[in-house]
Amino acid sequence: MCGIVGYAGGRNALPILLDGLKRLEYRGYDSAGVAIVGSALQVVKDKGFIANLEAQLPAIAGSTGFAHTRWATHGAPSKVNAHPHVDCTGKIALAHNGIIENFAALREKLEARGHRFVSQTDTESLVHLIESYYEGDLEDATRKALHEARGSYAILAVHADEPGRVVGARNESPLVIGLGPDENFLASDVPALLRYTDRVLYVMDKEMVVITPKGVAIKDLEGHAVTREPQRITWSLEDAEKGGFDHFMLKEIHEAPKAIHETLLGRLANLEVDGFLSEGITSVKLVACGTSYHAAMIGKYILEEIARIPASAELASEYRYSQGPTDRPLVILITQSGETADTLGAAREARRRGCKTLGITNILGSSLTREVDTTLYTRAGIEIAVAGTKTFIAQLIVLYLIALKMGQDRGTLGYDDLDRLKDQLRSLPRTVQNVLDRSAEIRALAAKYGNARDIFYIGRHANYPVALEGALKLKEISYIHAEAYAAGELKHGPLALVTPQTPVIAVAVQDPTYDKVRSNIGEVSARGAPVLALGTSGDRELAKYVDDVIEIPEIPWVFSPVPVSVALQLFAYEVARLHDCPIDKPRNLAKSVTVE
Ligand code: F6R
Repeated sequence: MCGIVGYAGGRNALPILLDGLKRLEYRGYDSAGVAIVGSALQVVKDKGFIANLEAQLPAIAGSTGFAHTRWATHGAPSKVNAHPHVDCTGKIALAHNGIIENFAALREKLEARGHRFVSQTDTESLVHLIESYYEGDLEDATRKALHEARGSYAILAVHADEPGRVVGARNESPLVIGLGPDENFLASDVPALLRYTDRVLYVMDKEMVVITPKGVAIKDLEGHAVTREPQRITWSLEDAEKGGFDHFMLKEIHEAPKAIHETLLGRLANLEVDGFLSEGITSVKLVACGTSYHAAMIGKYILEEIARIPASAELASEYRYSQGPTDRPLVILITQSGETADTLGAAREARRRGCKTLGITNILGSSLTREVDTTLYTRAGIEIAVAGTKTFIAQLIVLYLIALKMGQDRGTLGYDDLDRLKDQLRSLPRTVQNVLDRSAEIRALAAKYGNARDIFYIGRHANYPVALEGALKLKEISYIHAEAYAAGELKHGPLALVTPQTPVIAVAVQDPTYDKVRSNIGEVSARGAPVLALGTSGDRELAKYVDDVIEIPEIPWVFSPVPVSVALQLFAYEVARLHDCPIDKPRNLAKSVTVE
């Protein structure tokens, strides 16, 4: 996820662009840059926060241009990889949010024709492609280039010889037009525009737009004009940054379908997972902390089920000081931030033991990437709320990809199995959306159960760690005491605590342990505990044994942790809202834990 903002009008563009860009910093902040067309095209960019760019900017005159704040996906965060990117003539500048999937093939073709590339980004292939089509009309050249590019994008482009024009386009990445008198704007998100206008037009997928001081023209990719009525935005600036949601956490929970889609993009068809090779691996150890550890625990079940490879999960803080057996598993280190001290320590320990290491992180160029042999990125976009939500879901998606790749390489999956699993993965965004569509129902259940002092979560098999994660979410943001148990363990001790005052949240979807979980539900109901179950849609039997059910669409059990976790995230969120807690910044916690 990156942020872009463009301007064409009568004022000096630079302060307007910088102001807009700062409002988009939540979308990424590893590097930033501006392109302004005045008497010539001027481009300034650097690694680091927008403030760093601002501190070194000369006074650039010009009333057309754009700015970009980056959250790296291809190519490490660095000055050369920062946007804007320019073509060989130095006359076209481009900023991009998204991923150009066929960038490698485009680059090879363009380099063979003599284009000189300087960065490792996917975006640079697009600016050279536009250059190759340029015959005096930037809009036309961009349209032709976009017919060849595959992937997701919101782009802005300017040409030194076309002052007063910014060309934009969108496919699967947001782009909104701001309408002003004698000036017009483009941005990734409304907050960048609100200071200047509240009249906006949304650009839709596979559409292009040209803004000038006097007007706005939207066309489809074939060049046909599109007419659309402007809308008036009534949000405050702060509301707008949260996309209209009350908290970043809620916004991020709702971004799960997109995080799944982006994380799968370009990887599923041929199972090309960023150079990950599974040869010679006979067992896997998954190591992480907190929420990421719960993803690791689920990963064990995913790998064993899909790839039939022995797998185990361990807390990073324990692994780094344990003796460890003499075998050499592949060690998979999972960390959203890529900066968690315990996980980095565990990565060093794994290498010391002679193990191959694979990192899973959401942050390009983070410290983890320097400690492991190979890195696979989740592409969840930046996560601002302290509680991990969409990044956890994206971690699971990467684990499915690894399992499919290993299953294919190890021959444990036939063609039909592979195709079926791939289709099921592709449909997960829809399954999750179905859960999100039940938000009102989950809010009502939160009101019913959310006043308890203690809440138990139970689950078995792959949904035991899902219960652990549900309980962690609840305690960290609502401060209600919540404990999760493998449902079969209740009778070995915790059952002593179960009373009519302790609601039990039971994950009881159709999986290999469904019947056993139903028996465990019987054990807690017999002690008078109210039970809220997460069950498979249409399971009428379950409804007879519990007080309430959140229905989860029917999917193969190995994928059930994804929708169930989203439902539990929403439940925790609604309980915390009920108690008016500081949801995005819970007490005593930090987004990235860089101390032991
Ligand atoms: C809880 C949460 C934390 C993190 C943990 C590890 O919602 O987010 O438990 O999962 O601090 O962080 P990363 O994944 O950055 O290593």
